[in-house]
Amino acid sequence: MSAHTPTRRLTIRDIAAMRQRGEAIAMLTAYDATMARLVEMAGTDMILIGDSLGNVVLGHETTLPVTLDDMIRHAAAVKRGSSRALLVCDLPFGSVSGPDAALANAVRVMKETGVEAVKVEGGLVMVPVVERLVAHGIAVIAHIGLTPQAVHQMGGYYMHGKDEASAARLRQEAKALEAAGAFAIVLECVTPALAAEITHALTIPTIGIGSGKDCAGQVLVINDLIGLNTSPPPSFAKPRADVAAIIRAAVGDYVAETKAERQPIPLPRRAE
Ligand code: KIV
Repeated sequence: MSAHTPTRRLTIRDIAAMRQRGEAIAMLTAYDATMARLVEMAGTDMILIGDSLGNVVLGHETTLPVTLDDMIRHAAAVKRGSSRALLVCDLPFGSVSGPDAALANAVRVMKETGVEAVKVEGGLVMVPVVERLVAHGIAVIAHIGLTPQAVHQMGGYYMHGKDEASAARLRQEAKALEAAGAFAIVLECVTPALAAEITHALTIPTIGIGSGKDCAGQVLVINDLIGLNTSPPPSFAKPRADVAAIIRAAVGDYVAETKAERQPIPLPRRAE
């Protein structure tokens, strides 16, 4: 936790100040009140109510089916469980199809959840969206590189910035989104050297995921961090616990004890 830890909720000015003094920013996802409280107690600066909700909570294969109502329900729960971290809610697939739609949907998120910021996935096409949201007083995080909402258009999940054309586009997108007013930018699966270069070129913090250690901050899906998965996490996520194993063991004990202790209870006799 920061040496300058305030007891109030962090703001985007605190995040900018952390970047100024070179202090790393720790961000994690959470989708409910209990997890929000726990990750915040452990010192997380920003909580993302990510649309990874679709994969890790709602059982979808991708983030595409996640709705604005899904995001609002879970973001409101995270808000109820937290008091210090800056909260950021993803605007899900289809909710940012242009500046007007994005503004209407972001306003709903802000009004109905109480989060402090929203996140939008996409490169240059998101520049007018970010400009519009910021002009209307909404704090925005941008997200480039691997943008899971575009998985089908991209043709899968893989590293970005490997060839010069892709690297040049990412440099241009990062600069343009900063100029549009984003207060931070997620770099997902961007080659570590390029992520470091972009980090040095920007004043706003970069928040890396699968993009090496030289970003201004890091974000991870909480389930990947604590090993709360039934399938393997992405290769860049190194689980620091095996919560799935703890759950299986506890539930296994409970089931075994329940079945062992129960004396057979006869069924009521049927009336003749
Ligand atoms: O939805 C999400 O959890 C995200 C992070 C992986 C950055 O966008």
